[in-house]
Amino acid sequence: MTHSDAAGQPIPLEARSSGALNGRVRVPGDKSISHRSLILGALAVGETRVSGLLEGEDVLNTAKSMRALGARVERTGPFAWKVAGVGVAGFAEPAAPLDFGNSGTGCRLVMGAVAGCPVSAVFDGDASLRSRPMRRVLDPLELMGAKVRAGKEGGRLPLTLQGARDPLPITYRTPVASAQIKSAVLLAGLAAPGVTTVIETEASRDHTELMLKHFGADIVSEKEGSHGRKISLTGQPELHGADVVVPADPSSAAFPIVAALVVDGSDIVLSDVMTNPLRTGLFTTLREMGASIEQSALRGDAGEPMAQFRVRGSRLRGVEVPPERAPSMIDEYLVLAVAASFAEGTTIMRGLQELRVKESDRLAATADMLRVNGVRVEISGDDLIVEGKGHVPGGGLVTTHMDHRIAMSALVMGLASDKPVKVDDTAFIATSFPDFIPMMRSLGAEFS
Ligand code: S3P
Repeated sequence: MTHSDAAGQPIPLEARSSGALNGRVRVPGDKSISHRSLILGALAVGETRVSGLLEGEDVLNTAKSMRALGARVERTGPFAWKVAGVGVAGFAEPAAPLDFGNSGTGCRLVMGAVAGCPVSAVFDGDASLRSRPMRRVLDPLELMGAKVRAGKEGGRLPLTLQGARDPLPITYRTPVASAQIKSAVLLAGLAAPGVTTVIETEASRDHTELMLKHFGADIVSEKEGSHGRKISLTGQPELHGADVVVPADPSSAAFPIVAALVVDGSDIVLSDVMTNPLRTGLFTTLREMGASIEQSALRGDAGEPMAQFRVRGSRLRGVEVPPERAPSMIDEYLVLAVAASFAEGTTIMRGLQELRVKESDRLAATADMLRVNGVRVEISGDDLIVEGKGHVPGGGLVTTHMDHRIAMSALVMGLASDKPVKVDDTAFIATSFPDFIPMMRSLGAEFS
């Protein structure tokens, strides 16, 4: 799986040792919030205006699916979108299969939204998405009354989902910390009478809960145990259209931030980075490693705080990252492994089992990325252990496996390694961070 389904031909690129990175950037809008703004806009009555939407392939596929299900979704300017919704349970049956491309989030959240409507829809995606487990979402949706047809082993795509005419509210304990599972159940629960409850042992990102409240739903989130949450949603609300300002994506900010830390003498500023505490595990970890990251608090919007970050080149040291931090930085381990490679000493990242079922098997892919570039790394059970030596030999060719974050992490590594780092295909970067290459070049990154 080295070629791009989305863009056709693979687009290889090489990153090489660059001078200090300098400048000020705003990375694109948060992917999680962008998907949710379109889906909730489509389930609301009236108009939703979104500014700062991430116009990456993943989110554009969600926009198309909302149109196919009957909502009016229009682009009104750069990153500005307008959605006229159909109301809770108001989706129309789509005429053609819904294609989510590379996006697990778009696919699984829309499965939840469709499960509460009396329509049937075919869900499909690219080779990466077709290989990912969908049973984790289909199990609770079936308990709520949805029916699945033509699913492959593990409920893999393509499959047909028949939504429930009279969905049932359930109480569901998620088997793994996953905002996608939680969100799918809550979105289906919108159409059910009574209270739908999701219990999670480890709290996952809460953008769905915050945005549901912003759109007028009655939803309560309480602490559960030491790290968990219990979320209760009262079904059949009248959601009203709302304005959503999408802050910059901390998972995208992670790449220029780690680049600035590992390239000597760098000094960069990132504006409007979302700082929801369920997303900031990477920043906590980098600070523990000795990173110079100054943060000035800014206003928040619809419950989502944001801040400006100033990041300077830093000497990093190895640390141990506890497993309970994983949900708050689940998409950041690849680029943390890059930072750990440049650090002095050993970094141990614990409890990474969920990395095996992302856009690729990220646990194996991270180890491969480091190994081909001369870094000593080991996978022990679900833990990743990186031996930092203060510099990275580089010189490797990294296989992307249709995974945007592998491509960006490897390119960041090449900006400070002794020899250049090559990436076989950068096409998938367009799923989440279309301007990554030009934005990094504007800071001084050297790619060819
Ligand atoms: C996301 C949830 C996470 C994350 C993904 C975005 C979301 O997935 O990895 O990139 O927006 O809900 P899981 O729910 O599988 O942990």
